Amino acid sequence: MPESPTRQLADEHEYVLLVVGAMDAEAARIEDSGTIDVGRVSQMVDFTRNFTDGDHHTKEENLLFPLLEERSPAAGGTISVLLSEHEAARECMRAISAALPDAGGPDEERAAAGRGVVVENLRLYAYLLPLHIGKEDTVLFKLTEDLLSAQEQEILAREFEDMGKAPGAREVTERYHRLAHDLAEGHARA
Ligand SMILES: [Fe+2]
Ligand SMILES: [Fe+2]
Repeated sequence: MPESPTRQLADEHEYVLLVVGAMDAEAARIEDSGTIDVGRVSQMVDFTRNFTDGDHHTKEENLLFPLLEERSPAAGGTISVLLSEHEAARECMRAISAALPDAGGPDEERAAAGRGVVVENLRLYAYLLPLHIGKEDTVLFKLTEDLLSAQEQEILAREFEDMGKAPGAREVTERYHRLAHDLAEGHARA
């Protein structure tokens, strides 16, 4: 029997929060040192795009949210807020990604401006995500448990698990779990 859908999502939130902590520390390091480790920030963007958005938010947006919206008009309000937070988070990643070439480039004026954009958006993301996750861990998970029967939750849990069964998917997920720990440990050593 798979773990409940809310348990699976809560476990993923822990990995997301590891990287969020690393982002906050990275923003401070960039600001203090006036230099940027482009490779490390790129890894944070990679994790966010492929694990947080590609895997976790896809489970929420494609499977869980539509089910809850169908069940309860009241859930629709909460879900539209959560969706707009996903979009704001994606916008942070777009801004960081667009600023990285300048931030790591040779022109000092452009590099400083690029670093500023990266710092601002790492901080914004690190501010938004814990609030978003806090809302999901309480309000969204309660809605899920209240609105879906035990059997429906089990079907959803299997659908979540099935997403991880595509060829190579397990290895990719394990790689991102390791990356989250590596990024967080870099934060602890800083
Ligand atoms: Fe979410
Ligand atoms: Fe989530």
